[in-house]
Amino acid sequence: TPSFEYLLLEKRPSGVAIIQLNRPKALNALCLGLLEELVNLLQTLDKDSSVRSIVLTGAGKGYKNVENLFFFFLAVRIKFCLFGSKKKKKKKESKAFSAGADIKEMEPKNYMDVYKEDMFTIADKIAYNVRKPIIAAVNGFALGGGCELAMTCDIIIASDKAKFGQPEINLGTIPGIGGTQRLTRAIGKSRAMELCLTGDLITAQQASEWGLVSRVVPHEKVLQEAIDVAEKIAKKSVPIAIICKEAVNRSFESSLKEGVLFERRLFHSTFSTKDQKEGMSAFSQKKEAKWQDA
Ligand code: CAA
Repeated sequence: TPSFEYLLLEKRPSGVAIIQLNRPKALNALCLGLLEELVNLLQTLDKDSSVRSIVLTGAGKGYKNVENLFFFFLAVRIKFCLFGSKKKKKKKESKAFSAGADIKEMEPKNYMDVYKEDMFTIADKIAYNVRKPIIAAVNGFALGGGCELAMTCDIIIASDKAKFGQPEINLGTIPGIGGTQRLTRAIGKSRAMELCLTGDLITAQQASEWGLVSRVVPHEKVLQEAIDVAEKIAKKSVPIAIICKEAVNRSFESSLKEGVLFERRLFHSTFSTKDQKEGMSAFSQKKEAKWQDA
C-alpha cells in the first residue's frame, strides 16, 4: 500500500476508493505537496482495475471506519474514567473539505515563481486525465481552491454544514484552479460574479438551490451518501461509465450541435462493447446484467 503525507486512502471490496485530504490542522489547505500526492494517487487509481469509482472528502468528522470507531470509543471511555462526565469545552472539530490553496505557502512567492512552477496546472490533470467518476463529499468549508477542487469532481454531495466560496479577492488575488470558469458554468454569471467579487460564502442549501451541488444531506451522513452513490456507479460497466462521463464533460467544451454529435458517436461506439450486448440481452431475459468491463 502506498503511504502518503497528506492523504488517507481506503479501498473497499465494492470497488470504491475513498480518499481523504488529511491536513485537518490547516483545514486541509492544498499545499503543493498535497496536490501532487492527490493527482498521482488519482492517476494510479484510474489505472487500478480493482477501483471502479472514487470518493473524495476532507479528513475529520463524518468519516467512520471500524478502526477509527474503535479508537474513538476507547478514547471516550478513558476520558470518562479520568474526568467523569463533567462537560468540557467543546473541542474544535475538523470542519473542512478544503479551505483552499495554502496561503502561507503562496505568500512569499512572486510572479516568476508562480509562473515558472506553473502553479496549479497540475490540478488540471484531475479534470482532464482522470476517467473514472469522482464524487466529492463536501464535509465543511470548500473555499477557493477547495471549491475549485470540488468542482473538478463529477458529482458534489454537501453536508448541511458545508460552506462554499471563492474568497481569493480578500487576499488580493483571484481564483487559480478554474473557479471563475467552472463556477460561472455551474451557477451563471451574476451569481459567480457576486461570489468572486465579494468573496462571500454561501451555505450548502444556497449552493444546492443554485445547482452547484447535487444535494445536501445531514453532516454525519455526507460521506456515507457519497459512498452509496459511488457504489451504485461501481456496479455499472466501468468502460461505459467512463464513456458516459466523457460525453457529459464534452458539454462544457463544445457547441450544442458538436456536443450532440460527439455523444451520438460515443453512443454508436458502445455497440462495439460486450457490455452493451450483455446489458440489452439481460434486460430482454429479465436477468441482472453481468458486466465484463469489456
Ligand atoms: N491556507 C493555509 N492555512 C490555512 C488556510 C489556507 N487556505 N485556511 C485555514 N488555514 C489554517 C489557519 O491559518 C489556521 O492555522 P493556525 O492554527 O496555525 O493559525 C488553521 O488553518 C485553522 O484556521 P482558522 O483558525 O482560520 O479557522 P476558523 O474556523 O477561524 O476560520 C476559515 C475558518 C473561514 C475557513 C478561515 O480559515 C479562512 O478564511 N481560510 C482561508 C480561506 C481562503 O481564503 N481560501 C482561499 C485560498 S487562495 C486560493 O485557493 C487560490 C486558488 O484559487 C487556487
